[in-house]
Amino acid sequence: MPAPCPRVFPSGPFDAKARRAFGSAVTRHAHDLGGDKLFTDAGLAELLDRYPREDVGVYTMGEGPDSWRRGRLGDISGAELVQAVKAGNLWLNLRGSSARDARLGAMNRQIFSELKRALPGFMPFRTDLALLISSPGARVSYHLDVPRVMLFHVRGRKRIFVYPREAPFIAARDLERVVTETTTEAIPYDRSYDAGAQVFDLAQGDMLSWPQNGPHRIENGPDLNVSLSVEYMTPAALMRANAVLANAWLRERFGYEGGLEARPAFSWLPKFALARWLRVIEPRQARPETLAQTFVVERGFTG
Ligand SMILES: [Fe+2]
Repeated sequence: MPAPCPRVFPSGPFDAKARRAFGSAVTRHAHDLGGDKLFTDAGLAELLDRYPREDVGVYTMGEGPDSWRRGRLGDISGAELVQAVKAGNLWLNLRGSSARDARLGAMNRQIFSELKRALPGFMPFRTDLALLISSPGARVSYHLDVPRVMLFHVRGRKRIFVYPREAPFIAARDLERVVTETTTEAIPYDRSYDAGAQVFDLAQGDMLSWPQNGPHRIENGPDLNVSLSVEYMTPAALMRANAVLANAWLRERFGYEGGLEARPAFSWLPKFALARWLRVIEPRQARPETLAQTFVVERGFTG
């Protein structure tokens, strides 16, 4: 039986300003998860030894946005894998960790129970926590996520760039492509966008939350990085995703230009109904893994 998860947010309930901003602006919060021994080298090694290998996403990357390659884990122990991540250019994503590990599941529940207490009317569902373990200097290129996301940083240093959810940073057609899963989460990026980004240097104990579908990219600092990526939906977030899904269908059939759906609108109701109907008549495919597996991380891996 794992020890109960300690309090996540040391400062307790959010103040009025933080309550208003949470989810609608980029907000930074202090958290106390980083001290858990699960996140030490030994704790991570032990977790990797018992975690289902097929549920670990393994990636390496170069400089450009198209340079991500997918790999798989071979004959390598958890301890050797932690060393390989420290030495190499790797990004491990332990998908669905909250369902596969009791300790991480307890953290996920504790996070949302404190948030529900702090934020009146907050109704999260489809909550999911993924543990990310990544190399010094690793980077994640410009992309957006369909659900709402919080990033709890627990080890190392990381710089995250968060961009406005508006033109020119994101075009409606690209948002629709991500939501309909006809592409990966990657979207077109131009260096000039950085002038409009909010930039945060994260260390252990920092949590960052940003608006649903907000474009972002990440550059790791010179040390091993460990973070928890916590995804969830709310009723408004689900309505918005479905409005975008309906817009994609209306664009394809009728050339309709639905826009970015930045604010809740009455049109979300019929679009929500349309999207639910589309899901019935055009069942959603499982997200295709667009990258083929091209390398194996095994004992002695050097990147
Ligand atoms: Fe993301």
